[in-house]
Amino acid sequence: MTRAWRSTESWRERRGELNGKRIGFVPTMGALHRGHESLVERCRRENDVVVVSIFVNPTQFNDPKDLERYPRTLEADLALLEKAGADEVLVPHRAEMYPHGYRFRIDVEDSVQVMEGLHRPGYFQGMTTVVMKLLNMVRADRAYFGEKDFQQLRVVTDMVQEFFIPTEIVPCETVRDESGLAESSRNQLLSPEARANAAVLYRALTGAASTGEAKAQIEAAGLRVEYLEEHWGRRFVAAYADSVRLIDNVPLASE
Ligand code: PAJ
Repeated sequence: MTRAWRSTESWRERRGELNGKRIGFVPTMGALHRGHESLVERCRRENDVVVVSIFVNPTQFNDPKDLERYPRTLEADLALLEKAGADEVLVPHRAEMYPHGYRFRIDVEDSVQVMEGLHRPGYFQGMTTVVMKLLNMVRADRAYFGEKDFQQLRVVTDMVQEFFIPTEIVPCETVRDESGLAESSRNQLLSPEARANAAVLYRALTGAASTGEAKAQIEAAGLRVEYLEEHWGRRFVAAYADSVRLIDNVPLASE
């Protein structure tokens, strides 16, 4: 039976009852899909208690229009979580996550600000701030993050280490549809045509001989490339299909 908690006070009481159990945590912004589901399933296999949060975090959106149209599908999300075996779902109110507005926040050094950090000002600051709040609320043994958002995973892993947060960050592989397109909440916003075109992202990331060639392939399919770069043995892309911003990354083939 999945229980949903909307007030942080009632969650705090519930959390007290769970002391001594192995707790796994999957933070999300809802509009759940098979990617999220795979994280929850792994969390279910590896822990006694599965906690999921659904919170569309306003401070990590640099574009107010993106925040406004971000898909919100709470009823369907709760049904998916029930099926996937989640025990506790936190759906906190914005006023409880930010009781005095955006008063305290984590400052992320410029050296970290490549790709997502560079193109989405304030994103890492807002994301790390809310992840820190959520990790402190849940006090999980393990928290599961997708490689789909590889930079996020890296930044969170480093933050947890440097702030001595006693939660292990577990990386999880990217889930894709049959065309290779990485599952994403924003895919819901794509027209059928744009969705078909977006399949070029994975083809270009895995198949092109160079970043220049990958960029050309993606542009030829009608997408607008924001960046296409290689770091840490992986190839990364951010591109717009219609007005929807999509990101993806793959490990570089090692020879
Ligand atoms: P959200 O985009 O909802 O993603 C929640 C988690 O699901 C993240 O760890 C993300 O990497 C993972 N995920 C998304 N698509 C995936 C896919 N196709 N395969 C595998 N994992 C996937 O990322 C966030 O929310 C927020 O920034 C959050 C961490 C919740 C902080 O607000």
